[in-house]
Amino acid sequence: MRPDPHSVSPAPSPDVAVLGGGIIGLVTAWRAALRGLRVTVVDPAPGGGAARVAAGMLAAVTELHYGEETLLALNLASAERYPSFVAELEEASGEETGYRACGTLAVALDADDRAYLRELHALQRRCGLDAEWLNGRECRRLEPMLAPSVRGGLRVDGDHQVDPRRLAAALLRACERAGVTFRRASAVRLRTANGRATGAELDDGTVLDAGQTVLALGSYSGRLDGVPPDVLPPVRPVKGQVLRLRMPPSRFGPFLSRTVRAVVRGGHLYLVPRASGELVVGATSEEMGWDTTVTAGGVYELLRDAHELVPGITELPLAETLAGLRPASPDNAPLLGPSALPGLHLAGGHYRNGVLLTPVTGDVMGALLETGELPEEARAFAPERFAHDRKEQYA
Ligand code: GLY
Repeated sequence: MRPDPHSVSPAPSPDVAVLGGGIIGLVTAWRAALRGLRVTVVDPAPGGGAARVAAGMLAAVTELHYGEETLLALNLASAERYPSFVAELEEASGEETGYRACGTLAVALDADDRAYLRELHALQRRCGLDAEWLNGRECRRLEPMLAPSVRGGLRVDGDHQVDPRRLAAALLRACERAGVTFRRASAVRLRTANGRATGAELDDGTVLDAGQTVLALGSYSGRLDGVPPDVLPPVRPVKGQVLRLRMPPSRFGPFLSRTVRAVVRGGHLYLVPRASGELVVGATSEEMGWDTTVTAGGVYELLRDAHELVPGITELPLAETLAGLRPASPDNAPLLGPSALPGLHLAGGHYRNGVLLTPVTGDVMGALLETGELPEEARAFAPERFAHDRKEQYA
């Protein structure tokens, strides 16, 4: 029988369905597509998610916390590959990412804040990291807009920044150019058959079948229907409120020339100045469930602390206020790799480090999807590390 020339053969199922088109889903899709896999990303608005809110600090050294030394190794690995990653991404997408190798200054305002930073410095040195202690005058010489009350700080020349919105746009374009397909819908249910993940049901009533499925839904990864309870990643949302101000061009030099972080009476504040003139001020850290309301109190605290740190900030136009949800895991580190359900992989729980960890996440997820093997550098972040807790929870 002759084939009907008017019939349209259905599109073949992709090798990989990536549920979630934030930066983690997009980098996974891009890297998998570059390895020759057919990839579909499911997201009603790809390129959105937490990256729309994030400031984009690549702060492996200044955002180090006690007990996170294992995570530090992954953070450093990702920071190190950022220059080549953005060069490749900008070439592939034709879009700029706003990467700036500007360094960071972390300062203290009162004696307690100074003691905290001294402790951080000791931890950094124990971990073999580069950070130089400066007195208040030396801090102000680097950043003349800092308040006279700044008592000292840490100069970290290796902590840089990228613009997460531009990063997301570049990843989206690179995915399109690499042949990634987009389904502009939400995944509402994981599909399983014979003890394997086989794709997802979408809210437009369609079904997407796929050989492998990646759960990259940020904070929402922990509540997709159809995922067995003992496989659901233990991620929760941690709210962050962020402000965007505009720095006018000045004849007297930049308003701030590098990222400035501060501990202000125990609270953590950062000011991230972009080459575009945008100044991002963040962030609150609130256990408020799914709430993304921008509150007067949140904005007040950020502006109060930022004003204490850089008094001139109150002269700047306030362009945007926004709240987002950091996907946090129980140990603050991401979940990367195969889940206990064959065919389902996790790429989530990046918490404070999603933008920083984007390059290494793409590399390890791409390798996993192509070869079935999780690269050595990600083994400590495999989801199975929480298997014991979950067995107890669901026993
Ligand atoms: N890494 C910055 C934040 O989570 O607010």
